[in-house]
Amino acid sequence: MATEETLVLIKPDGVARGLTGAILARVEAKGYSLVDLRLVEPDRARLEQHYAEHAGKPFYEPLVEFMMSGPSVAIRLAGNRVIEGFRSLAGTTDPTTAAPGTIRGDLGRDWGLKVQQNLVHGSDSPESAVRELQIWFG
Ligand code: RTP
Ligand code: MG
Repeated sequence: MATEETLVLIKPDGVARGLTGAILARVEAKGYSLVDLRLVEPDRARLEQHYAEHAGKPFYEPLVEFMMSGPSVAIRLAGNRVIEGFRSLAGTTDPTTAAPGTIRGDLGRDWGLKVQQNLVHGSDSPESAVRELQIWFG
């Protein structure tokens, strides 16, 4: 079986707060492999593709604006069951209630802004991973 891959993003809040190294350290300590990694400033078209499933939701426009507010780090990450493994490391969407021990639970909080700034993104299924890796790495 081919090793599974996922798309991880360290979102603009994570990069701006200087947490790139801390987040990468957790991913590496878990044992996953960095296959490719780049600093990216995505344009609106790329974000509209990436977040197509959320188009029309109240948080969609603030989310796209937030994702254009600064660079993100895009990572092609590999390992058996890495999709569910990274989602587990990341914690649940809302950083206020994400479990301690997770990236969002330990490093994130509610800043009172229009969209949840929760540091990281991870693909949520094999189909999403293929689609999203194409968007960010071609
Ligand atoms: P992600 O896609 O970034 O890994 O996060 P997720 O699966 O946990 O969350 P998802 O439901 O896919 O939402 C994508 C991103 O939109 C922002 N969001 N804000 N109610 C809100 O204010 C709200 N809901 C979602 C978050 O940045 C979330 O990660
Ligand atoms: Mg998602």
